[in-house]
Amino acid sequence: MYDVYKIRKQFPMLTNNIKMQNKPLTFLDNCSTTFKPQCVIDAMNEYYTKYTSNSHRGDYDLSVNADTKIEEARKEIASLVNSEVNEVVFTTGATGALNLVAYGYGLKYLKKGDEIILSVAEHASNVLPWFRIAELTGATIKYVEIVNGRILAENLRKVISNKTKIVSLAHVGNVLGYVADIKEFAKIAHEYGAIMVCDGAQSVPHIKTDFKDLDVDFLAFSAHKMCGPTGVGALVGKYELLQKMDPFTTGGGMNSVFKKDGTVDYRLPPYKFEAGTLDVAGIIGFGRAVKFIKEIGIDNIHKHDQELIDYALEKLKDYKDIIIYNKDARNGILTFNIKGVFPQDEATLMNYKGIAIRSGEHCAKLLDNYLDTKATCRMSTYLYTTKEEIDVFVDAIINGGDILDAYFN
Ligand SMILES: Cc1ncc(COP(=O)(O)O)c(C=O)c1O
Repeated sequence: MYDVYKIRKQFPMLTNNIKMQNKPLTFLDNCSTTFKPQCVIDAMNEYYTKYTSNSHRGDYDLSVNADTKIEEARKEIASLVNSEVNEVVFTTGATGALNLVAYGYGLKYLKKGDEIILSVAEHASNVLPWFRIAELTGATIKYVEIVNGRILAENLRKVISNKTKIVSLAHVGNVLGYVADIKEFAKIAHEYGAIMVCDGAQSVPHIKTDFKDLDVDFLAFSAHKMCGPTGVGALVGKYELLQKMDPFTTGGGMNSVFKKDGTVDYRLPPYKFEAGTLDVAGIIGFGRAVKFIKEIGIDNIHKHDQELIDYALEKLKDYKDIIIYNKDARNGILTFNIKGVFPQDEATLMNYKGIAIRSGEHCAKLLDNYLDTKATCRMSTYLYTTKEEIDVFVDAIINGGDILDAYFN
């Protein structure tokens, strides 16, 4: 039995009586980031207060302890996404991970005339690194068409060809929240000899994401969207591809030998990609967050997200002034506009009522033509969101009052 109230007790941001605009905080911007449970904060604090030391460096117990904790975190993450432990590379987040594939793999293997396939629904972090690689290599970007918010395999087949070297798509889009059939896309990409990169920033925290079963080549995600700390994430990559790939950053820790003549021996993956001092506390917090997620159960989290969106949709079904862009997505994301109201005004009005939602383009700036609107509002739930919070949100939509109250009070 999913006890959301018991879960909430573990989050200081939910128990500390936090207010916004002097009203109880209703946090519905979980696509953007999530709150951290006490166990994650404690795990990080413990590193700072009981065993601070650098990792991969020392021969003394403290440092070995930091190494052990990092490798424990790696194991947790590998088991969550069903990869081998040595396929998990720590990065600064999904953005860092996508840049690592783009520069480490794309820059090395792409050439003029090659093609990269994206969709217009991709987050900037899964577009801009590929723009750079296209610019640097002479490769071309192609877009798979979106139909009713979804990417269909048949449309991927329309754009893919033997020139395609990389297909990079989100498993769950951060604006519309549909789950893409990444397993089928990976199969199609492989038929054409291309690699499949999966942006898992919005899927790994919310739905079962099985690296081996999906058979993607790379999977990128961030800790902070799944109850972990900011500034840390992972790139999971098939080991043989990690071996072939170049490091993006070089420096301490990732080499075994370098000589005056410029020769360098890199360490084996994943260490080859982890240059410099790692975010040890962050990685420890990431590992603890993953353990926390596993304890609750990813399928339970997904069901909870779905129930909340169903509940919101039911409550809003007779409200004529709302335009909902992703009614059947049911993945913890509700993207909408209120007729005649500028989205940022709506978000400001919500803020005035203590409710955090996001407005704008949500970093998916190619999507506006498809949605036929420049901007939208996005409400997003997570494992600690309650129906009472949805009630507050729905009430603010229906009985929102005058936007001028928000600006002039
Ligand atoms: C789909 C998607 N990809 C990538 C990112 C980038 O994540 P980060 O900023 O944590 O690197 C986000 C963040 O919102 C996202 O939603």
